[in-house]
Amino acid sequence: MTLYLGSDHAGLELKKILQAHLESKGYKTVDLGAFAVEPPTDYPRIAHEVGEKVRENHGARGILICGTGLGMCMAANKVKHIRAAVCESEQTVEMSRKHNDANVLCLGGRVLQPDLAQRMVDVFMETPFEGEERHIRRVENIELNDA
Ligand code: RB5
Repeated sequence: MTLYLGSDHAGLELKKILQAHLESKGYKTVDLGAFAVEPPTDYPRIAHEVGEKVRENHGARGILICGTGLGMCMAANKVKHIRAAVCESEQTVEMSRKHNDANVLCLGGRVLQPDLAQRMVDVFMETPFEGEERHIRRVENIELNDA
């Protein structure tokens, strides 16, 4: 499974830590930027690029990191078929996979300690969607009003 990574300037440091962590576990990652802290990067462009890659590549996932994860999540969820979740605990990451089939995880580089973030991405990659009928129905209904 390809894992698309993206950050703005505020998430760059944590993204590098998580990329090294994920690659040490054998995951193939593709970093779509930002690649430098200066000049600052506007998070919506990166969120949309990662979202489009995840949408185009069946089964792919994304991880987006800005200062809080909030802006990345808002922007990524504008891409069709993207279910982005901003999480601050292992428990919410687990539920985002089990019940919501989240395909993009959004994290805050200014609010998470790296060791917790590493455990969170492990949970994101290792937890399957429960796939029960009620969860499938609810996830499908998220998109009902999409054009
Ligand atoms: C950048 O200063 C900051 O606003 C951004 O990283 C993010 O936290 C927005 O949601």
